[in-house]
Amino acid sequence: MTDKYAVIGNPIAHSKSPLIHQMFAAQTGQDISYEAILAPLDGFAATVERLRDQGYKGCNVTVPFKFEACRIVNDVTSKVIDVFDLGENADAINTLVFRNNKIIGGNTDGVGLVRDITQNLNSNVAGKRVLLMGAGGAACGVVHPLLDQRPQEFVIANRTLENAIKFKQTIRGTAQFPVRSVSVSSYPNLSGKQFDIVINATSASLMDEMPNIPKTIFAPGALAYDMMYGRDTPFMKFAREHGAAIVSDGLGMLVEQAAESFYIWRGVRPDTASVLKKLRAELPIA
Ligand code: ATR
Repeated sequence: MTDKYAVIGNPIAHSKSPLIHQMFAAQTGQDISYEAILAPLDGFAATVERLRDQGYKGCNVTVPFKFEACRIVNDVTSKVIDVFDLGENADAINTLVFRNNKIIGGNTDGVGLVRDITQNLNSNVAGKRVLLMGAGGAACGVVHPLLDQRPQEFVIANRTLENAIKFKQTIRGTAQFPVRSVSVSSYPNLSGKQFDIVINATSASLMDEMPNIPKTIFAPGALAYDMMYGRDTPFMKFAREHGAAIVSDGLGMLVEQAAESFYIWRGVRPDTASVLKKLRAELPIA
């Protein structure tokens, strides 16, 4: 019998997840279906429960429901829920598993980002000076897997400094990188500092804007990574003009986080390189 999966979001029509998971399924011979489901803004929990009751095996969760997904998981924790040990950060959740009427949640975004950086872009986070820009859901989903890599320095910068301070208070840190070693900064205060990896986890690119970072921010050989995909963002253009050696959008992260969800659901690791190549042909950056 075909096992059913879905991605829930609002909006959702743009989602590449159905295409990615169908490619993974074809490649690995897994008998699954995967559809995009639009949930009303006030109807996320009801949608999840409906899918679970209809026998779906799991789902991905995207904007704007990642924090709410965590609440659902925690709400039911006493009865039924377990949280994946994935990046230890379950404050924003992108993957749910329905098993024995239980909802299990976790986040594969950070693992996806780290895999894209280390495997697809052949860079290291270990030993590097890392700047994470943004303090919302996107930043929350990736912070622990990045810290797990044991960077040399880790700074979170945000337009509203107060939000960065609050965000830091939600971070648990890792054995590799304790939270006391994480710094927070405004963008202007980054003046004079340089980073080997600069990650844009803000939603500024959606509005064709970018954080107000100094032009000198990129260390020689730096990687500039925008978690947005399918467009050349102002941050990516800025990075190219101001000395970043590698500039990437988030398409690889999208494919890698999907692969990790697929692995959790199916126990099979798909080949991501061929899928990324096909998607890149559809979504060139330029
Ligand atoms: P997401 O789930 O995509 O992270 P979010 O939780 O609303 O969305 O968070 C948006 C993030 O992008 C925040 O860090 C926000 O900064 P503020 O805390 O100051 O609001 C950041 N952001 C949005 N637009 C921005 C812009 N034009 N310049 C810089 N940062 C921006």
